[in-house]
Amino acid sequence: MASSAQMAAAAGAATRALSEFCSDVVMGLSHPGQKELPSKYLYDALGSALFDAICLLPEYGLSRAGMRLLERHACEIVERVPGPVVVAELGSGNGQKTRYLLEALARRQRVNYYPIDISGSALFRCQQELGQMEMVSLVGFESAYLDGLHKVAARRREGERLLVLFLGSTIGNFDRSAGDQFLCDVRAILREGDSLLLATDLEKPVPMLKLAYDDPPGVTAAFNKNILARINMELGGEFDLGQFEHVVRYDEIERRIEMHLRSKAWQSVAIRKAGFRLYLREGETIWTESSHKYDPQEVKRMGGRAGFDSAGQWIDIEWPFAQTLFLAI
Ligand SMILES: C[S@@+](CC[C@H](N)C(=O)[O-])C[C@H]1O[C@@H](n2cnc3c(N)ncnc32)[C@H](O)[C@@H]1O
Repeated sequence: MASSAQMAAAAGAATRALSEFCSDVVMGLSHPGQKELPSKYLYDALGSALFDAICLLPEYGLSRAGMRLLERHACEIVERVPGPVVVAELGSGNGQKTRYLLEALARRQRVNYYPIDISGSALFRCQQELGQMEMVSLVGFESAYLDGLHKVAARRREGERLLVLFLGSTIGNFDRSAGDQFLCDVRAILREGDSLLLATDLEKPVPMLKLAYDDPPGVTAAFNKNILARINMELGGEFDLGQFEHVVRYDEIERRIEMHLRSKAWQSVAIRKAGFRLYLREGETIWTESSHKYDPQEVKRMGGRAGFDSAGQWIDIEWPFAQTLFLAI
């Protein structure tokens, strides 16, 4: 049972998270020019469940490609990771594809696995998925990526190396320069000899990409619109979801898919807890997520710029996608 100090700490953390959500929403929606919302807020309990459903869609090849690569190459990947290791996973989600890596590692050592996710419900699913594995101890951190990674790094014992997993091409949610900075921030927490397995979705024909983010049954549209439902629920927003349309664009120059929510009419929307009112023109959009696409050599260069050596790259042909292993130098 939680002590009263633990309960007070949890309540304090929840209040801080709500206040950060409120200020990020106001800042993004007041942005001159393009209005935007940070994609991390797509993942509340319903958003995480919808993301799991997206991964089952035939059009969303990313997840199965990442999974196929790990199923086929987990042993080879693990052989190249110096041990003994503790495993930290950034944005673990339900952890389904991580099983292959943990199984391969557990053949050589007992594994401490630390999934880190901003979504408590994703962590709960991860615990259900991987919490009973033999030779694996799981402790989840409901944290932002780098906060969680600091906490894991502080737990490692003398002689233990860290293996960081960043799967699902979640790096693609960062703009390219922010992605570079993120890898540098990860590297700064690591020590020489630690490793990073980075998944990246590769460039492919645009119609194939657009369909992956705009599936006919409308699951991704529901995932996207749920960010407005979350604002309604947590911040007293008054969005009418029927007044918005899910829009997917491919930016050829930035080589990224963008998800937007397009206003079907002129509208004004109150967000009561923020004391804020939003005005939208007909056709104006709120940008909710980017998913950058990469070239395999570009991925190796990204790691190189952040202080890593590439120790192997595995590419799925059916749905061009890469898993790249890096060693911190
Ligand atoms: C695209 S999903 C990928 C999930 C999983 N890795 C996979 O490959 O299926 C991104 C995950 O990162 C989490 N996430 C998003 N932003 C985050 C942040 N700033 N800090 C920690 N987790 C975050 C989300 O809750 C979600 O579970």
